[in-house]
Amino acid sequence: MKFSSTLLFAAGLVSASVMADDAHDLISKGQYLATAADCAACHNGTDEQRSAFAGGYTIDSPMGKIIASNITPSKQFGIGNYTEQQFADALRKGIAADGSHLYPAMPYTAYQGLTDADVKALYAYFMQGVRAVDKAPTEKTELAFPFSVRQAMFGWNLLYTDAKPFEAPQGMAANVAHGKYLSDVLAHCGTCHTPRNAMMAEDNSQYLAGAALGGWYAPNITSDKESGIGNWSQQQLEQYLKTGSVPNLSQAGGPMAEAVEHSFRFLTDSDIRDIAAYIKQVPAISTATAKVRANATPALTNINEVITGQGEQKTLADSSTVDGAKLYDNACASCHGRNGQGTADHFYPSLTSNTAVTAALPNNLVMAISHGLSRKGNDVDVLMPAFGRDMSDAQIAAVSNYVRLHFGNIDDGLTAKDVASITSGGPAPFLVRYINLLMALGAIIVLAVLFALFRRKKH
Ligand code: HEC
Ligand code: HEC
Ligand code: HEC
Repeated sequence: MKFSSTLLFAAGLVSASVMADDAHDLISKGQYLATAADCAACHNGTDEQRSAFAGGYTIDSPMGKIIASNITPSKQFGIGNYTEQQFADALRKGIAADGSHLYPAMPYTAYQGLTDADVKALYAYFMQGVRAVDKAPTEKTELAFPFSVRQAMFGWNLLYTDAKPFEAPQGMAANVAHGKYLSDVLAHCGTCHTPRNAMMAEDNSQYLAGAALGGWYAPNITSDKESGIGNWSQQQLEQYLKTGSVPNLSQAGGPMAEAVEHSFRFLTDSDIRDIAAYIKQVPAISTATAKVRANATPALTNINEVITGQGEQKTLADSSTVDGAKLYDNACASCHGRNGQGTADHFYPSLTSNTAVTAALPNNLVMAISHGLSRKGNDVDVLMPAFGRDMSDAQIAAVSNYVRLHFGNIDDGLTAKDVASITSGGPAPFLVRYINLLMALGAIIVLAVLFALFRRKKH
């Protein structure tokens, strides 16, 4: 559809009036790319309507506050005066129209691979498809000296960015290469799934091999069959990205649910197919797996029990019990079934075949219990209540241990302390989503300042 009018025009089949549609097509393409790149996550306004791209979101870093800019076409308060070249430089090099350096809380390290054609479409969208908001964000970026010296970013940029548009690796099929572009540049899977090195830069030797994310854990999604997703079919991966749920396999919670809700579910089937095709051939990296007990069979006595799945929890009758079985029966069984089988329609998922239960770490299970889950989909909204307020850390540990032992045959021996450390100081959802980027920011700025000082000495 994207190229249809151009093709038809070339074939002499459409009139000039239809060519005006090309401008419209370009703007829609830009809107689509902005969704795939999730610009709204940071740039939407902080007012009640979350005015599109009005800016104002405050990123509290240890160095001070960084405020996301108004990127509506307002000439005075937004980017209305940006030329296409200046816009390209902001996205790819982190340089604003006035020549000052942006902080890498703006993920230009991912966007640096944007193609010229995509920058053009994004520019058309932001200039013509977005309503100007003639208001400055209420707060201003305030970093303490020396972090306030934006020029310091120069050194870091020399080291870590090359601002070269994406090029398909030699010999990679076109659809797979397109999937790589979408995954690395726009959807930036690696921001969450690739662990960081000591400099807090993404460790490319561990590309997509799994990383902690503020309590949650973004699992290994390389093609390793044991610790990665090498056993998932192409179709399962597509379904997961599009809907956040594959019955009897995995459900997206936390930051992944947000990525699905706000970005991935809006991607075309063909783009999802390309992402999945690319991800499926990412070289396997083997990481730790959970230690499954050798000769114990999970206590599944009544697997055919039919549950109605009314979503009614019984009260936590004995509110102080730390008996995992009792807690499970009272708090979880009404939805997931006494034997963890879930409902027949999979609305309440099975826990007996679920990656959150069998993963190397119990983090995502603990976070799901403590913080609950919610995800808006194209045709269904899912919600699991948060138990963090009703259950003590010891109770969460007990029910988590019970679930992993009985439905996954894994003995974590989690303690209340472990639960506290997983869930402690859980940052706001937005911060969780970008926590790795923000942690990187700290390291990057320190590095950049050192670099800048070093350069000055040499002169
Ligand atoms: C993770 C958060 C985040 C995402 C995602 C993000 N930005 Fe930004 N952006 C920022 C922050 C923060 C700033 C301000 C940085 C500073 O002041 O140094 C910024 C600044 C900018 C600027 C410079 C504006 C100016 O003159 O101050 C432009 C242009 C911009 N972003 C465009 C985009 C576009 C287009 C997208 C999507 C393709 C996007 N951003 C995605 C956080 C983000
Ligand atoms: C904002 C951070 C974030 C981004 C961006 C992100 N993920 Fe995830 N992903 C996660 C987290 C956290 C989980 C674990 C969710 C859970 O179990 O509830 C996850 C889970 C998954 C899983 C399920 C793995 C399993 O073993 O169950 C797959 C597959 C996946 N992500 C693929 C991707 C792909 C492909 C992309 C890019 C197109 C991507 N993710 C982008 C954070 C992210
Ligand atoms: C009111 C119904 C309800 C109750 C009660 C409930 N859950 Fe859930 N649970 C859900 C729903 C809905 C989902 C998400 C399904 C989806 O994403 O498609 C879910 C998902 C999960 C997942 C998968 C999470 C992931 O990140 O992959 C786990 C594990 C889980 N629940 C465990 C529990 C445990 C343990 C309890 C008791 C402490 C519990 N649930 C209580 C409804 C419930």
